[in-house]
Amino acid sequence: MKGFIFDLDGVIVDTAGYHFQAWKKLAEELGVSFTLEDNERLKGVSRARSLEIILELGNIRASEAEKKVWMQQKNEDYLEYVNRMDRQELLPGVLSALQILKDRGGKIALGSASKNARLILEKTGIMPLFDAVVDGNDVSRAKPDPEVFVLAAAQIGAEAPDCVVFEDSVAGIRAANVAGMTSIGIGDAGTLHEARRVYPGFTEIDIPAFFE
Ligand code: BG6
Ligand code: MG
Repeated sequence: MKGFIFDLDGVIVDTAGYHFQAWKKLAEELGVSFTLEDNERLKGVSRARSLEIILELGNIRASEAEKKVWMQQKNEDYLEYVNRMDRQELLPGVLSALQILKDRGGKIALGSASKNARLILEKTGIMPLFDAVVDGNDVSRAKPDPEVFVLAAAQIGAEAPDCVVFEDSVAGIRAANVAGMTSIGIGDAGTLHEARRVYPGFTEIDIPAFFE
């Protein structure tokens, strides 16, 4: 039996721009200059660590209480974008890949750092295609720690060598490799050179070949 574990942000949906808009709003309020290039460092990283990076950029020291308020504020702004999402936001080829994997008897899991993952799967209408969802609410150690993928594999009853992980972040590729799973990078081959294979997107992947 084969298991297929999908990261969410940057693999299934392109939410980086929404995260950026919401973090940028907060950064401006705090007087921190925050660019699209800085936003690259936030990909695959937890909400708490993302805030720390922004505070470091502005040399700001803050109490835990302040950080909590700011994270909540950013998430409320981010949710305004998420609440407007629908099936159109699925990245090209994702839906067809999920359907082929399912039709061939593969087990499908989500392995994401996001605490908003379930809402996004509902909004885009693909929740029924998932056999398990492991997200930022279920794990205590962030990628590159393999915890999220190990838990996802356990929930679909697949052994690590039988699992394929689709990831767009360097930290996520490392997590998959440490877990002993086949890492497939979605994005730039140079950035994701630690992955077993890298594709620009799902339309370029021969999905049935995973079953040969
Ligand atoms: C990851 C994103 O999937 O989830 C990060 O790549 C994000 O950019 C992280 O910070 C946490 O997301 P959320 O939705 O819980 O704030
Ligand atoms: Mg990602």
